[in-house]
Amino acid sequence: MDRFLIREMKLADYSAVINFWRQTPGLALSDADTEENIGVFLTRNPGLSFVAEFADQLLGTILCGHDGRRGFIYHLAVHRDHRRKGIGRHLAERCVSKLKDVGISKCHLFVLANNDQGMIFWNKIGFQRREDIQIYSHNISSE
Ligand SMILES: CC(C)(COP(=O)(O)OP(=O)(O)OC[C@H]1O[C@@H](n2cnc3c(N)ncnc32)[C@H](O)[C@@H]1OP(=O)(O)O)[C@@H](O)C(=O)NCCC(=O)NCCS
Repeated sequence: MDRFLIREMKLADYSAVINFWRQTPGLALSDADTEENIGVFLTRNPGLSFVAEFADQLLGTILCGHDGRRGFIYHLAVHRDHRRKGIGRHLAERCVSKLKDVGISKCHLFVLANNDQGMIFWNKIGFQRREDIQIYSHNISSE
């Protein structure tokens, strides 16, 4: 493989991206990942989410946004045949760089508790695991 290309994710990528995510263990997909919701996310956060490609083949994805205070990263995934080539690091670093450009000084992400490789990756590229925070969720749609 020559150098992969990283470009902004567009809603037109949705069907390829959702298929890719569905085939990637380690990601937590939910009703937040419908085409409509991803469209809203990309519109609210232009220029922050990316795909990695080589010769039109989807090799990696990352979703990134912010709420005006903090950045959030979701769904970093790299094709299993193309891991350990720096694609994940490049995607994450691109998001961090773009968040910095828009004035966001810190970002967070969620890792499934059993995703040891994901944790090793994030630690390796300089993200700090928090021991002082627990995640609480509330299902609003069931009210
Ligand atoms: C985690 C993931 C995105 C890493 O992507 P990647 O392109 O392989 O990562 P990189 O090549 O940029 O790796 C950067 C460094 O992280 C470390 N690393 C990455 N994957 C690792 C693994 N499986 N085991 C140990 N170290 C690993 C290495 O130190 C690596 O550098 P090196 O190859 O020079 O030693 C990829 O494994 C993946 O898609 N996993 C499934 C989905 C997932 O878990 N995503 C994270 C959700 S939070």
